[in-house]
Amino acid sequence: MLKVSAAKPADTFLSLLKIIFKPMTLEAAIKKLWIIPLAIYCGAMSCDKDDPPVDGNTRPKNLEEYKLVTEGLKDYFTPAEYFYMGVAMPSSFVDNQVKVNLIKRHFNSVTADNDMKWSYIQPVEGTFNFANADKIVAFAQANNMKVRGHCLCWHNQIPAWIFKDGTSTATKELVLQRLRTHITTVMTHFKGKVYAWDVVNEAIDDGSSTYRASQWYAICGEDYIYEAFKAARAADPDAKLFYNDYTAIDPAKRDKIYDLLVKLKAQNLVDGMGLQGHWNISYPASSLIDDALNKYKSLGLQIQITEMDVSVYTSNSDPESAYTDALAQQQTIAFGRYFQAFRNFRDAITGITFWGLADDYTWLDNFPVAGRKNYPLLFDENLDPKPAYFEVIDF
Ligand code: GLA
Repeated sequence: MLKVSAAKPADTFLSLLKIIFKPMTLEAAIKKLWIIPLAIYCGAMSCDKDDPPVDGNTRPKNLEEYKLVTEGLKDYFTPAEYFYMGVAMPSSFVDNQVKVNLIKRHFNSVTADNDMKWSYIQPVEGTFNFANADKIVAFAQANNMKVRGHCLCWHNQIPAWIFKDGTSTATKELVLQRLRTHITTVMTHFKGKVYAWDVVNEAIDDGSSTYRASQWYAICGEDYIYEAFKAARAADPDAKLFYNDYTAIDPAKRDKIYDLLVKLKAQNLVDGMGLQGHWNISYPASSLIDDALNKYKSLGLQIQITEMDVSVYTSNSDPESAYTDALAQQQTIAFGRYFQAFRNFRDAITGITFWGLADDYTWLDNFPVAGRKNYPLLFDENLDPKPAYFEVIDF
């Protein structure tokens, strides 16, 4: 049965009063007086703010039912029972009321998709631009949402000056000093406002090497990873510190990440593992997800899915496609499978963040194939829930 939500009591009451007071004979009016206690009862029932989380049988199953209720993802996956539900967004979304409404309905955590990255925050040495990131944080605070910080040390979206000293390559000491200054300044600025940080992003190699051959690694070796976490721990001892990576479910990469986490944990430098979750309609298999989650969980770290999207393409050579019913169905099954796994690991998983709000704005329209339209999220280009949404909340 569909539950009419708390936003409706005033409407219910008013429409019942309108029925009563429309022109009618006195006799007819007296006959309708029974409606008054009924209206009061309806209002009182639907106003109960202490309603328990909406149970499985009362959730909307289609767009029509969705429009009748106000609950969203965060009400079905409550933090106490499941995890925080998050969305990555640019600061411009704050000025878009339709998007704001959708975000407020479904999410209790936000991440800046770009605005906290090094090239935006400190493009020139010593010049920090916090304006856009502050806007997102203020939006989150005004709406009682948590903020996941992303990201402090990465090989992409970083300015070239980090690795230069005049025309020469900077020394390891200089690079590490810049890394520490950046992390300390950014985390101090957001202290008490950002509860978790992706401290190091994508440091592990996809191939046979252990570490990615980044400029960080070329100049500093693996020390930069430890220095980043040490600076982060010192800057805000209350923040939860994450290592974050993609294809973290691939067994070879997973084991390298695991080894790094073991070493970081031995020095109390890490609190959580972030699996980006840039997946697709057939990959990864459930066994890969389960094995990886079990392995990370065995370290006693919290786990977050930090950048979830589910591409409708399984290969770079797939031609562009419209969002056909067949694709929608495959994506629905995939999302259902992934969320089943997340629910199974709810004791270890503390957050799920989608990398984008709706299919009208996704990085996958231009990656890995430029200009190939993708549909990787739970909401369509009109911001309406897709079949995958109804599958995800059906448990
Ligand atoms: C990586 C990064 C994110 C973002 C996505 C693509 O996964 O961690 O910050 O840039 O790529 O948008």
